[in-house]
Amino acid sequence: MTRKEAFDSVRANVEDKNLVRHMLATEAIMRALARHLGEDDEEEWGLTGLLHDIDVELTEGDMSSHGKLGADLARELGASETMTHAILCHNETHGIPVETKLDKALFCADPLSGLITAAALVRPDKKLAGLEAKSVIKRFKEKSFAAGVDRRQISRCSEIGLELNEFIELGLVAMQGIAAELAL
Ligand SMILES: [Fe+2]
Repeated sequence: MTRKEAFDSVRANVEDKNLVRHMLATEAIMRALARHLGEDDEEEWGLTGLLHDIDVELTEGDMSSHGKLGADLARELGASETMTHAILCHNETHGIPVETKLDKALFCADPLSGLITAAALVRPDKKLAGLEAKSVIKRFKEKSFAAGVDRRQISRCSEIGLELNEFIELGLVAMQGIAAELAL
């Protein structure tokens, strides 16, 4: 699967621009993580991030199928078992253990993209450019801020060997790198 094929499929299945942006942001964080961890297949990591929520609109909020349909769609596009496993288990409803490095990376990158987006949107300029890692870390600690963002899930970056602060910084830099695509 090429990146273009994956992205075309995302655009064919997802209408909501913000959801597409969320997947692009997750892709950017996943790529940065792959590079940071010295993974051989950055593309696999990136495309897992890009595709992980491809079924959100198709499943219409049905959490018992979210991730399952996504894994099927990714498989049809040519995704490996490693990728489809990560997509499947990022939805905890299925009770499938988050076990591989790729699973763990997607599991913590997904909510981090939400936290960083929320932290950018409360700035007067609503831009990522001037956002500093320390303010995102402060937002992380403020429980009422973007309360839907699961802090516990982000903290599981420790399972792939990253300190929380380091992970937040890596995610922020990764998203700043594609700020125009994210409209942030
Ligand atoms: Fe997501």
